[in-house]
Parts: sequence; structure tokens; C-alpha cells
Amino acid sequence: MMPPKRLKLGVNIDHVATVRQARGTDYPSPLEAADGCARAGADNITAHLREDRRHIGDADVYALKAWGKLPLNLEMAIAPEIVRIALDLRPPEACLVPERREELTTEGGLDVKTHRAALGDTIPALQEAGIRVSLFVEPDPVQLDTAAELGVPCVELHTGTYCRVPAAEQEHKRLIEAARHAHALGLQVNAGHGIHLDNIGGILHIPHLDTLNIGHSIVARAILVGMETAVREMLERLRAYGEGQAS
Ligand code: PXP
Repeated sequence: MMPPKRLKLGVNIDHVATVRQARGTDYPSPLEAADGCARAGADNITAHLREDRRHIGDADVYALKAWGKLPLNLEMAIAPEIVRIALDLRPPEACLVPERREELTTEGGLDVKTHRAALGDTIPALQEAGIRVSLFVEPDPVQLDTAAELGVPCVELHTGTYCRVPAAEQEHKRLIEAARHAHALGLQVNAGHGIHLDNIGGILHIPHLDTLNIGHSIVARAILVGMETAVREMLERLRAYGEGQAS
């Protein structure tokens, strides 16, 4: 029997920049945080360049790309200005997400069915620039079918609803079924949003996962124990992936 695949960890460092922006200082440095993630053994770095630049800024994403110790996954809306930056920056990966200015954080998956026409233009442009595109979607078969039709190799399942109420069995079931469905469509399956050390147990029961993207809880923990330790603690939990999981 094949040994279970190692579940990878992408660390979203947006909130390191949130602390910096709160005072308009030049510290703490997202780059130093990324270095800590690399030393701890994380697999990639995610940064969301929002239209309002509330945390990560243009200089950060260029610096992270040039730093290059871990691949950069650029989270982005399909706003023309951000797409232009992505095409210039050429990160190895980009995850397309919905964005509303008044939201505290990304509130749900991108409705790829509604935005199909815009995505039909943006995805090929990004792919032609050598960027591997992922779509952040709800665990919904219609969204996954549309993602596959749009020709992306990868989706990220929105785990936020489940993570807020981990007792919600229906949402857990939806995630498990969506992962199976996406895998059957030949898509790489990532997942993220709202994951922390206390709710990750249920996430580890989702089959076919390649990467978990985790931000807020790791950065929050890093304030107390340091980035390297916070990432190591999470990686330690990921090591249990594959044991007794639904297939
Ligand atoms: N994945 C996506 C697509 C996101 O938008 C976010 C939040 O920026 C995350 C993962 C990380 O979520 P959290 O900060 O809640 O761990």
C-alpha cells in the first residue's frame, strides 16, 4: 500500500503586516516572518494583496517573490489593478478569492459560476504568465464542476463555515464530499480559512488534501511563542494526516 501523502502547510502572513500597518511602522517584517516559516519547514507562503492594501502592500509581494526561499502563493481578487500586478510579479501560484472592502476577512468562496465570464478572461492570462491558478470555492459540486471547466489545476475549499462551528456535521460532510468530487475531477485539493489548533482534528478527516493554508491562528500564536515554534506546532498536527481518514 502507498504511504499516505504528506499534507503540506502554506502559511498566510497577512497579519504580520496587519500589526505593522496598525502603527505605520516598518516592523514587524513579513519577510522575517516568512524566514521563520521556512526554518520551521512550511511549504509555501501566502499573502493577500487586497485592493485596500490594509495589510500586505505591493512592496511586500515583490520582496517575498525576490526572497524566494519558499514559493509565493498570491491571494488576489480579479480586480484589474491586482491582475496587472500579478502579471508583472509572476508568483508561482495565485489563488483567486472574492473581496469586499467592508469585510473583516474573506467571507466565503468565490462564486465561480456567477463570475465565469470574468474568470474565463483572467485565468488564461495568468496561466500564460506561468502562474498556477487556484480558485477558492465553497464545498459545492456545482462550483467544483465550473472550476474544472475553467481549466484550473487546483481548488482551495473554504473551511471557514465548518471552522466556526466544528460541531456542524453537515458542513463537515459537505467538505469531505467536495474533496472527493474535486479529486475525481482531477483537481488538486487545498483547503483553508479559520483553521486553528483546536479545530484542525475534523479538517484532517477530509480526504485527498494537498495543502492547508493557515494564517490568523499561526500569526496569533507566533506573538506568544515566535513564528518558528507556531509553525512547528501546526506542522506537528498535520503529521497525523492520513490516519483513519475517510477516503
Ligand atoms: N485561504 C484563503 C483563500 C483565505 O482568504 C485566507 C484568509 O486570508 C486563508 C486561507 C487563511 O485563513 P485564516 O487566516 O483564517 O487562517
